Amino acid sequence: QKGILAFSGGLDTSVVVKYLQDEHDMDVITVTVDVGQGDDNKKIAAKAKKLGVKKHYNIDARKEFVKDYIFPSIKANALYQKKYCLATALARPLIAEKVLEIAKKEKVTSLAHGCSGKGNDQVRFDITLRSGSNLPIIAPIRDKNLDRVTELKFAKKHGIEIDTVAKKFSIDQNLWGRAIEGGVLEDPYNEPPDDAFIWVKTKNLPDKPTYLEIKFEKGIPVGVDGKTMDGQKLIEYINKKAGDAGVGIVDHIEDRVVGIKSREVYETPAATCLIEAHSDLEKMVHTKHENKFKSIIDDEWAYLAYSGLWQDPLKSDLDGFIEASQKPVTGTVKLKLYKGSLRVVGRKSKNSLYSHEIATYGTESTFDQRLAKGFVELWGMQSTEANKLQKKRSTK
Ligand code: ARG
Ligand code: SIN
Repeated sequence: QKGILAFSGGLDTSVVVKYLQDEHDMDVITVTVDVGQGDDNKKIAAKAKKLGVKKHYNIDARKEFVKDYIFPSIKANALYQKKYCLATALARPLIAEKVLEIAKKEKVTSLAHGCSGKGNDQVRFDITLRSGSNLPIIAPIRDKNLDRVTELKFAKKHGIEIDTVAKKFSIDQNLWGRAIEGGVLEDPYNEPPDDAFIWVKTKNLPDKPTYLEIKFEKGIPVGVDGKTMDGQKLIEYINKKAGDAGVGIVDHIEDRVVGIKSREVYETPAATCLIEAHSDLEKMVHTKHENKFKSIIDDEWAYLAYSGLWQDPLKSDLDGFIEASQKPVTGTVKLKLYKGSLRVVGRKSKNSLYSHEIATYGTESTFDQRLAKGFVELWGMQSTEANKLQKKRSTK
């Protein structure tokens, strides 16, 4: 019997390793997928060894994460419920794919994961694993209805080391964002304490504004502040610069797939800036009709990615539309960041549909205002007529 699981070195996945070994009598293979969480991979490998796993893999998937997950989400301006940039949600299908690759190579008999039955991650893992394999999925935290206190006891009993460092919150982080849950945040009226935040400064913010000039090519950010950068470098650069200016904290009530409402706090400086800049540029180069329709597509895309339906054909159908829409999205957007606030203060593009001669109120205008009279008449014809009838009915 051989089981495999994605291993972070944290409480949940450590408990799962022991559980597979003891209760299922399994040899365990662990896989740590690097999606830019900034952990010490050597330490995690040592932890896995100490737990007595048969083999541990460390896979650097950062390039793939940027190219195939983060970039498409920027093109989709993906914000679940208008707020959450999907950092965790985007990483899960990739991590599960990597687990599947190694599962094949190692000829395992079971797949496992450390997700609870309350969250979204179980949905994302199960569905990705299922679309690539028929092997049984073991999820001990969910199957045994474990809570954190019981897990901590189990860990202690089995000599599993758990970072004593601030077990205050449950954290998940990667290149695209840092999610902070649990502890005092479980009261939705409690303001997050300053020590919840690591990426975004909340105190002693600079008195001078910070500017970011982001260059896009066909919807993809390719440079910032005059320098060409690959995706990973660019995201790291903006995370640091925007975080230092206090930009990127999100605090909202989120509807999970399973129906639970949860209070979620995030640090997503780069995602916040890039999505704001990208959607602003789209407004300049897309027609009014494209803008209206694409926001519907974008919402649906974020909903599918959040809900673990990354593999649904609808998602790739939407990708087709989104990709086609990105052809003119080339240009530069200027952002101003000041004490936690973010504002687009400039944009330019060779594909701009903004026309000074048409829009100006000055004498150089080429727009013949007289044409507007007839247009307005026809545009409002039905609405005016219907409204008159409504009024008539209500006075009767
Ligand atoms: N609510 C977010 C999501 O569903 C963040 C989840 C954080 N995950 C975690 N294992 N702590 O994507
Ligand atoms: C979990 O329940 O495993 C983490 C939280 C989530 O998936 O939303």
